[in-house]
Amino acid sequence: KPTYRHDYRPPAYRVRHTELRFDLEPGATRVRARLHVERHPERQAGEPLVLDGEQLLLTSIAIDGQALAEAEYALSDTGLTVLRPPERFLLDTEVEISPRENTALEGLYLSNGMYCTQCEAEGFRRITYYPDRPDVMATFSTTVVGDKATLPVLLSNGNPVERGELPDGRHFVTWDDPFPKPSYLFALVAGDLQKVEDRFTTMSGRDVTLQIWVEKANLGKTDHAMASLKRAMQWDEQTYGREYDLDLFMIVAVDDFNMGAMENKGLNIFNTAAVLTHPHTATDATFQRVEGIVAHEYFHNWSGNRVTCRDWFQLSLKEGFTVFRDQCFSADVNSAPVKRIEDVAFFRTAQFAEDAGPTAHPVRPDHYIEIGNFYTLTIYEKGAEVVRMLCNLVGWEAFRRGSDLYFERFDGQAVTIEDFVDCMAEASGLDLSQFMLWYSQAGTPEIDAHGEYDYANAEYRLTLRQRTPATPDQPEKLALHIPIRMGLVGTKSGRDLALTLDGKPLDRDGVIHLREAEQTFVFTDVPEAPVPSLLRGFSAPVQLRFPYGREDLAFLLANDSDGFNRWDAGQRLAMLALDDLIAAHRNGVEKVMDPRVVEAFRALLERGSKDKAVMAEMLTLPSEAYIAEQQPLVDVEAIHAARTFVEQSLAAALSDDFLRLYEENRSDIPYAPTPEQIGQRSLKNVALSYLMAIEDEQAVALAHQQFEADHNMTDVRHALTLLVHSSRDDLADPALRAFGEKWAHEPLVMDQWFAIQVTRPQTDALERVRYLMGHPAFSLKNPNRVRALVGTFANQNRINFHRTDGEGYRLLTDVVIELNRLNPEIAARLVTPLTRWQRFDEPRQELMKGELERIRAEKLSPNVYEVIEKALAQ
Ligand code: ARG
Ligand code: ZN
Repeated sequence: KPTYRHDYRPPAYRVRHTELRFDLEPGATRVRARLHVERHPERQAGEPLVLDGEQLLLTSIAIDGQALAEAEYALSDTGLTVLRPPERFLLDTEVEISPRENTALEGLYLSNGMYCTQCEAEGFRRITYYPDRPDVMATFSTTVVGDKATLPVLLSNGNPVERGELPDGRHFVTWDDPFPKPSYLFALVAGDLQKVEDRFTTMSGRDVTLQIWVEKANLGKTDHAMASLKRAMQWDEQTYGREYDLDLFMIVAVDDFNMGAMENKGLNIFNTAAVLTHPHTATDATFQRVEGIVAHEYFHNWSGNRVTCRDWFQLSLKEGFTVFRDQCFSADVNSAPVKRIEDVAFFRTAQFAEDAGPTAHPVRPDHYIEIGNFYTLTIYEKGAEVVRMLCNLVGWEAFRRGSDLYFERFDGQAVTIEDFVDCMAEASGLDLSQFMLWYSQAGTPEIDAHGEYDYANAEYRLTLRQRTPATPDQPEKLALHIPIRMGLVGTKSGRDLALTLDGKPLDRDGVIHLREAEQTFVFTDVPEAPVPSLLRGFSAPVQLRFPYGREDLAFLLANDSDGFNRWDAGQRLAMLALDDLIAAHRNGVEKVMDPRVVEAFRALLERGSKDKAVMAEMLTLPSEAYIAEQQPLVDVEAIHAARTFVEQSLAAALSDDFLRLYEENRSDIPYAPTPEQIGQRSLKNVALSYLMAIEDEQAVALAHQQFEADHNMTDVRHALTLLVHSSRDDLADPALRAFGEKWAHEPLVMDQWFAIQVTRPQTDALERVRYLMGHPAFSLKNPNRVRALVGTFANQNRINFHRTDGEGYRLLTDVVIELNRLNPEIAARLVTPLTRWQRFDEPRQELMKGELERIRAEKLSPNVYEVIEKALAQ
């Protein structure tokens, strides 16, 4: 069953050119394929030609015009083998498929009457027989035939070269894609769509037409995506020297989509949730997410499409690099420190959890059963952290030279992670061999640090010990090369001290290199006792522990020159207080708020900050999920109680400051998703959250007012959430009803409406989920609805999902079992919270394992099978 990386062999045959013709019918679409095939020069003659194919009905097959006899090929559930093909030939096949029956949303399917495709990773094999692997690259010519009245728009990759009318009210368009590509980048869209058009002139003067295709009702929601696309195109030219290469770039928005979006050559397909925005329907967070995803998919045109992956083990080659590129883009066009804080806060919660659980895997895995399960936080986000470390290690200039070399040397090829890192080594002259371990070792490295100031000798000794915990099939780990950006902040001066290490000034960036299991760094000429500021900007994806006292943390919160570490000091300080309160809760002792935390927050509020978005982040307590990640055993109730207690204590002690903050940051200027406005709204809304934590009349009135004022979705959604999460149903119910009625026709807003209700801390949350699953706006067939209702509940409503009666687990299991049949990829993702059973107390472990067993008893898709087996093997 599993595929192993070390089994890689080049394909026996290559496809030089692919001609496709689709006759679209919901229940019986005919696909004709003509492949121009030739033997791979490195492989001997006479080997069979192996084509992938699933759920296809073969109606004809011929080589060079001659129909094949039954003895000349073999058919199976997973493909077709031509036993003795010639050296060079044309292979013609015709198959029938049923887009209407396709609920997995892989291959060709129907979404709201519109045909669309998702081929990455292995969806093309559900369209036609083909060597469906990324190292087979061909130019494509695609003819799409469909009913003219219902499918007026027919799209595929590249440029339209011919169109015309056919009998019976049908018409066709032929598309040519001149760039050789693997099958996973193929795309087709057909439907009753409308477009918004714009232009972009590239740096070399190519005039590119930009189109965003949507259903008519969504025509007013494309401005931000279009503006983001143009910014991204310009940024990639300026930053990486990368220019767009076709005359046409299209984006299509579809309702039913498993992921965020897909970078098909010249024809990006997007989940509506990842592209549509309007001030009245989308929040600031959505505006920023759309900007990032539009850029991400566009950047793939080079990092992914022009240079692609040799095999799927190299997935992070394109994804890690492209996420790094989109993160840098978003940092450049928004508030850079906030972008970093948000990314790291998410990473340390979700990726750390993945790395510590049964599905932990390296950035480049060694084996998989179902590649669809490997579109993970580790491949994407940890992969991006690894590229970021590379960039910091070699420096931007060498990184850019390495990137130029990579794109030049491998243009039009399918390559490996070594190929990429080798370019960086060549461009910088650095030895990156130890660094490569980041790609092969799973698990989050832990660094235990401690330091000593030697007053007499004016020395500071910093000792770092690294250790990576065992992960499934990797019991032993080697020491990694870990770049640690740091400073020593003088306790008298409050400033960064000049750092001298081994008699030399430390480089400007203040990076020390940890390469051994344990290393001591001795800084000399340290004139005053310092507090170390370690891992600035989160310079490596590690868990770093240092025995900071609360005074140290309050000091860093006030004085650190690194904005990221200022924020992190606040988080660490809050964590210390939370730890005490969690223990108090567990021991049944009365909870007492640490006054030092209150004073640190008071000081923060009084000092203020130029960057309001950073300030908002600093005032935000660690999430329950993050707190849980920091505990040896997760105590769901204690975490919830402790965090609520801190929030209420801060609110009570600092209510005047929060009120002032709220008033100062109110504004009724017209909505724009600018970094300034977003920062201001975040800060105002954080203040409102604190005020509502104690639910006094004044706070309730403000929340109500903000909801009623209906100024933009960010403010309305925030106010509605506070009302719905309050203890008063007389506030929650009317607001929910009004909102639900107003937005019944907008699926993406209804997703918010679902999510807000099912994150309620009240005990009725689970019953609401069950009830809402019967709501007319809900459908198990739509991944956005499933994520909004069930995914949000299981991942974000911890106290209710982890109910001690096991009802939360049962509900999730019921849904996973149904989705296993309908949409295995979504099912395998949704089950994640249950796979983390080892983190909980004994009774919960038993309940969770019981549900996993219940899933295992089903006839499982490979996706769900792989995850369940790993989870139960622990
Ligand atoms: N390459 C796409 C992106 O990162 C995601 C495709 C995911 N496909 C899948 N079957 N999981 O933008
Ligand atoms: Zn991607």
